[in-house]
Amino acid sequence: MIHDDIQKVLVTEEEIEKRCVELAQQIEADYKKTGQTPIVVGLLKGSISFMAELIKRFESPIEIDFMKVSSYEGTESIGDIRIDLDMRISAKERPILLVEDIIDTGRTLVEVKKMLKNKGATDVKVVSLLDKPHERAIQADYVGFVVPNEFVVGYGLDYNQKYRNLPYVGVLKPEIYE
Ligand code: IMP
Ligand code: MG
Repeated sequence: MIHDDIQKVLVTEEEIEKRCVELAQQIEADYKKTGQTPIVVGLLKGSISFMAELIKRFESPIEIDFMKVSSYEGTESIGDIRIDLDMRISAKERPILLVEDIIDTGRTLVEVKKMLKNKGATDVKVVSLLDKPHERAIQADYVGFVVPNEFVVGYGLDYNQKYRNLPYVGVLKPEIYE
């Protein structure tokens, strides 16, 4: 069982569900002020559980879409990303709410935001389930939970593509990395 590999739970399923209600209300109220409804764009694969929980709590007619990006590996150049899967809905003249699982260095988001602005998005906001506090160029507009600077898995987040299906966020036992 995947649960046996977990050393400690950092954020429970109940806490995430409750936070998603609060986040959706806050986000919706903010967009209402602008009179616009965003395209809610999930960054695959990590955002799927969070996105599913969050969008259920919106009451206005949002549209959803997905993107998958990856960083170029083995280069030191900051911010080089590759688009593996692009949005199907046009971003032109639309506000976009990006849904992310966790912000670590923030490099991915800086680049994706730039790209979407280049495609004509009027506004790009970010909601992230988790935030690892760091000195960085970008902050999420909305954050679910701040987590310590440890490697976390679950609720969409993986270690070598595993543990995304855990219904909570936790830390793996050290022997799993050995
Ligand atoms: P960054 O903000 O560009 O450094 O990259 C963030 C991405 O790295 C996230 O979307 C995750 O896919 C991945 N990531 C960062 N920290 C963790 C973690 O603790 N567990 C699992 N994935 C992580
Ligand atoms: Mg990710």
